[in-house]
Amino acid sequence: MVRIVVVGSINMDLVTVAPRFPGAGETLLGERFLTVPGGKGANQSVAAARLGAEVALVGAVGNDAFGAGLLRGLAHEGIDLAHVATLDDSGSGTASITVAEGDNRIIVVPAANARVTPARVEAARACIARADAVLVQMEIPRESVEATVRLGHRLDVPVILNPAPAQPLPREWLALASYLTPNQHELATVLDGDADDDFRALMERAPCPVVLTRGGEGAWYRVHGQAQHQPGFPVSVVDTTGAGDTFNGALAVYLHEGLEQAVRKACAAAALSVTRLGAQGGMPTSHELGAFLTARQA
Ligand code: RIB
Repeated sequence: MVRIVVVGSINMDLVTVAPRFPGAGETLLGERFLTVPGGKGANQSVAAARLGAEVALVGAVGNDAFGAGLLRGLAHEGIDLAHVATLDDSGSGTASITVAEGDNRIIVVPAANARVTPARVEAARACIARADAVLVQMEIPRESVEATVRLGHRLDVPVILNPAPAQPLPREWLALASYLTPNQHELATVLDGDADDDFRALMERAPCPVVLTRGGEGAWYRVHGQAQHQPGFPVSVVDTTGAGDTFNGALAVYLHEGLEQAVRKACAAAALSVTRLGAQGGMPTSHELGAFLTARQA
């Protein structure tokens, strides 16, 4: 069984579905409200676990009702929570999400996620040493992301760095990542470049291999210096929240099959994920992913 360690955030998502996004100072009547589990770290853990991986999560929640619910959900998915702290003096992370016009807008309050320190990463060293791949994102302190990338590199465990939400990152530790998995806007931000630059040119400037996601258009990556494109799988979009997380979780699970297969399966998993509401709502099981891909080959 593939072993994945995820170092990242755990949030309660407060989701409002609206007919359109409100303007500044405007009040709109929404269509639906729901409270569902999210957070990029938790989402990527769930994506990988549903696809059959053995997953351990390094993170933190507050000692509150959201935290308890989030831990119950993760345990139900079979995720090892030995390295998830419950903090008495912090609330759980939250994300206020508006879903409208086939897209989303998100404000994250990190709360307990801000306390996922380098020391907590180091405490998971033995677990990381046994992993086939490590996933890390940017909703935890930057120094903990750096600690994860450095530790993975030292232990010779592939690290997938998903630079979301994006911020400029030092080339020196980007170079230690096995894969960087941004969208175009994130790649430009990470490299301190211009979002209007051609994305292929941006990819060439990165000091590590890049797998670039482009929503419904699929993903781009390079093999032996050649840019490759995996087209997206057309589906009816309900909610794009968590599509990137599903992509990353699946990429980590199927990396051992080679990058081409891993990107293809990650694009298919991400496509399935957007067909249901909520970040984790549409994440497929390995059986559902297999059936989807078989139907597309027929
Ligand atoms: O990537 C989607 C996630 O971003 C949401 O679940 C939300 O919690 C934010 O972290």
